[in-house]
Amino acid sequence: MERALTGRVALVTGGGTRLGQAIALGLGRLGADVAVHYASSKAGAKDTAQRIAIDGNRADCFQADLTKVEDLKTLATQVRDVLGPVDILVNSAAGFAREAFEKTSLETLDGQWALNARAPYLLTQAVLPQMREKGRGDVVNIVDIGGVFDAWSQYSAYCMSKAALAALTRSLAVELAPLVRVNAVAPGTVLPPVDLGPETLEALRQRIPQKRFGSPEDVVATVGFLLTGPTFVTGQIVAVDGGRSLG
Ligand SMILES: NC(=O)c1ccc[n+]([C@@H]2O[C@H](COP(=O)([O-])OP(=O)(O)OC[C@H]3O[C@@H](n4cnc5c(N)ncnc54)[C@H](OP(=O)(O)O)[C@@H]3O)[C@@H](O)[C@H]2O)c1
Repeated sequence: MERALTGRVALVTGGGTRLGQAIALGLGRLGADVAVHYASSKAGAKDTAQRIAIDGNRADCFQADLTKVEDLKTLATQVRDVLGPVDILVNSAAGFAREAFEKTSLETLDGQWALNARAPYLLTQAVLPQMREKGRGDVVNIVDIGGVFDAWSQYSAYCMSKAALAALTRSLAVELAPLVRVNAVAPGTVLPPVDLGPETLEALRQRIPQKRFGSPEDVVATVGFLLTGPTFVTGQIVAVDGGRSLG
């Protein structure tokens, strides 16, 4: 698997922070040239690109507000101009809105939809011609066990948007085959939100059969497997959750 992605060009959304950053660095370690997308985390994205470039890969960072339709096309064009045609797209950027159903505003609902579901849809559309040009493509969508394998209270807009992204994964795996494989990773808790207190974290941990949170590297390794493993795998949504979604 070492350097198995040499010659590939990957675009990772939300690559300046947390999980997206870990995925971008992981693809770099596998030999890919990496476009690190960010919205506001410019320093993080720059640092990510620099760390990838140390290994001799090409890497650069690109700013875009993925809720703005015009930004999505511009992002795809800019990445192509700098790094060449993209043949790996990892849709990781997302919002995580916690709001009771009755209090969920139109702004929250539309915002979660625009970033978590519409943006991956339109960005995949925008890079597809580049994948055709390259003669191959892989899309990996980062979903969540919430909304896909689990039903969560207080997160209806988020869960709905992630369920939509999971449905898109399966639809595109059929429609874009054999040129493009489309898979998804559904993490459980790997990097908890920073505002969760110790008691909530402990209650969360107790719900996981493995009695521990995962690590970003668990997700990175799964993305790596989907990109470098058996090419007969497509349309799959892999839970990386220590068994939590099994009930
Ligand atoms: N963390 C977990 O344990 C966990 C569990 C299950 C699923 N996931 C999924 O894994 C992915 C990454 O999770 P995370 O916890 O690392 O996310 P996060 O810390 O909440 O980061 C959100 C990312 O989305 C980007 N973003 C926010 N608004 C944006 C906008 N308008 N346009 C473009 N990008 C925007 C941010 O970019 P900037 O920082 O540059 O603004 C940031 O990189 C998400 O899809 C999440 O649903 C995470």
